[in-house]
Amino acid sequence: MTVLVTGGAGYIGSHVTLALLDRGEDVVIIDDLSTGRRELLDPRARFVEGSIGDRALLERTFASFAPTAVMHFAARTVVPESVARPIEYWATNTVFAHTLLRAAIGAGVPHFVYSSTAAVYGEPSSNPVAESVPPQPINPYGASKHAFERMLFDAADADLIVPAALRYFNVAGADPTGRTGQSTPQATHLVKVAAQTALGTRPHLEIYGTDWDTADGTCVRDYIHVSDLADIHVRILDGLRADSTTGVFNCGYGTGYSVREVIDAALRVCGAFDVREGARRAGDPASLIADTRRLRAAIDWQPQHADLDHIVRTAFEWERRITH
Ligand code: UFG
Repeated sequence: MTVLVTGGAGYIGSHVTLALLDRGEDVVIIDDLSTGRRELLDPRARFVEGSIGDRALLERTFASFAPTAVMHFAARTVVPESVARPIEYWATNTVFAHTLLRAAIGAGVPHFVYSSTAAVYGEPSSNPVAESVPPQPINPYGASKHAFERMLFDAADADLIVPAALRYFNVAGADPTGRTGQSTPQATHLVKVAAQTALGTRPHLEIYGTDWDTADGTCVRDYIHVSDLADIHVRILDGLRADSTTGVFNCGYGTGYSVREVIDAALRVCGAFDVREGARRAGDPASLIADTRRLRAAIDWQPQHADLDHIVRTAFEWERRITH
């Protein structure tokens, strides 16, 4: 059976592609290489270069390869950029995604796995946050991703497709065997920024606020290793094929680490670098931790990479590999 992976040259899409290929699935990637990287494409996968907003290209792709599942990662994902350029975020994350969904339904594809985000929750009033908490996104990124979730489940209610939407918490780390990793130079993610600072790509790491209402005053997040997240996707796909995993699922470990704890791990793993205390960043919730009970009840999943030092180490090793 063939799986169509959109955004397969990107960070999470390339890891899920590896997980699919490693277990013998046939994979077709569609990616416009706007943020994805050609060198992250696995030669075992077939590749279509182009946009998920290109309806004719999608129709040709579905007709040629006859996928039985779509895994949809192609998106714009930087929160501050979404505030500055909302129309582009709505275009890619909602309008183009609609074109993709329409083409998938038109081609009779039964299963659809969607890369959603904890950003749909906005600033939840308590943690851990469960899927039943009503989404209240606070930026165009979260809103544009949530809108497509709604579209997908409206289509499901009309029996047009059987979807799973995976709400990622803080995805970090890289393939432990060094085949792929987070390659966007301007990434804003804490673990990536720490690795870049340790390697001298950035002069210092700034902590965005030390006066939050948390144990050590810095923000708390649920960091999940990207390879564990990839494993979740494969198991969710198996579940869809067995009629058991349609729905919305939080993807995290259910464990929070503060910014200081992540930095301490990075200092242990990567060696010394300059850390400065700065002001709060707009739009950050103090804490965001996944309630993972629904996911753990739905699939047989044991995290293999949850150790924080291991997460940081794999990110650092990848960063060293791509730093010239
Ligand atoms: N942080 C710093 N300094 C940095 C970078 C980050 O202190 O240089 C802090 C942030 O303020 C935040 C924490 O580290 O408290 C994590 O920040 P990230 O940028 O790594 O991740 P976010 O929690 O902002 O964003 C993640 C995903 C988004 C998703 C969001 C949902 O990357 O895609 O969670 O809240 F939308």
